[in-house]
Amino acid sequence: MRFRDKVVLVVGGNSGIGRASAEGFAAEGAHVFLTGRDQKTIDETVAAIPGARGFRADISDIESSAEVIAAIREAHGRIDVLFVNAGIGAFVPVMEVTAQQWDEIHDVNLRGCFFAVQKALPLMTGPGAIVITGSIGSVAAVPGNVIYASAKAGLRAVARTLAAELIGQGIRVNMVSPGPTETPIINRSGLPAEAVPGLRSMMTQAVPMKRMGTPEEIARPVLFLASDEASFITGIDLFVDGGCVEL
Ligand SMILES: NC(=O)c1ccc[n+]([C@@H]2O[C@H](COP(=O)([O-])OP(=O)(O)OC[C@H]3O[C@@H](n4cnc5c(N)ncnc54)[C@H](OP(=O)(O)O)[C@@H]3O)[C@@H](O)[C@H]2O)c1
Repeated sequence: MRFRDKVVLVVGGNSGIGRASAEGFAAEGAHVFLTGRDQKTIDETVAAIPGARGFRADISDIESSAEVIAAIREAHGRIDVLFVNAGIGAFVPVMEVTAQQWDEIHDVNLRGCFFAVQKALPLMTGPGAIVITGSIGSVAAVPGNVIYASAKAGLRAVARTLAAELIGQGIRVNMVSPGPTETPIINRSGLPAEAVPGLRSMMTQAVPMKRMGTPEEIARPVLFLASDEASFITGIDLFVDGGCVEL
């Protein structure tokens, strides 16, 4: 029960890694608030997590978090743990990248994630923890991944800067960077459906452990970094990737 009575906001908590983390926080006693875009999966997730509350908010619209922030302020007056996890993928070769595609991905994965933190910070008045989902894509050179990789690398810089700036307020900021993980994101990368099995098999082969991770295997390190067990850890980027980056 590492999160007994803690107030936790999971931004992008209605699917995959975010949902597994929201379930984990709640199972350890947290009051969980979560956001996402898709009302159906928000409703399903909230129904599966006793006491959780879900809100529709598109992270690329920086004012859209106003409703969830107001609800948390009214119910608890504070946020103890912020998990900024929302993200979308895109595989586009360099010569096919359009400015619109670039902006769409960066508006969610970089700009939106930064402003999600900024909008939540006024409620992070005590000691607290922020965890941000990065990706091994920020350090791996993968053809076709330029938009996503650059956004996640920028997000890494955001996390490091936040860690330095918030240390005096007792707020730790860390990043968890997954390797290939079995979540719905693989079907949302913009590739045609028939290309997905090939992508999955390519990704699996690239992992030294020769398998993809599960959302729960990413959620566990997220919970660790968000908890007091990680009280002396700030500014890190923890690769949770079956050995992709280090081996
Ligand atoms: N799976 C992997 O292999 C992998 C590897 C490295 C990093 N990651 C990162 O892990 C994070 C979670 O992804 P996942 O794999 O769990 O995929 P997922 O199941 O597709 O979950 C993505 C989450 O982000 C939310 N989201 C996306 N765009 C949003 C927007 N504009 N506004 C608000 N919420 C938005 C989604 O909500 P909706 O469903 O409502 O859109 C969903 O909750 C992402 O940051 C991703 O980049 C994943």
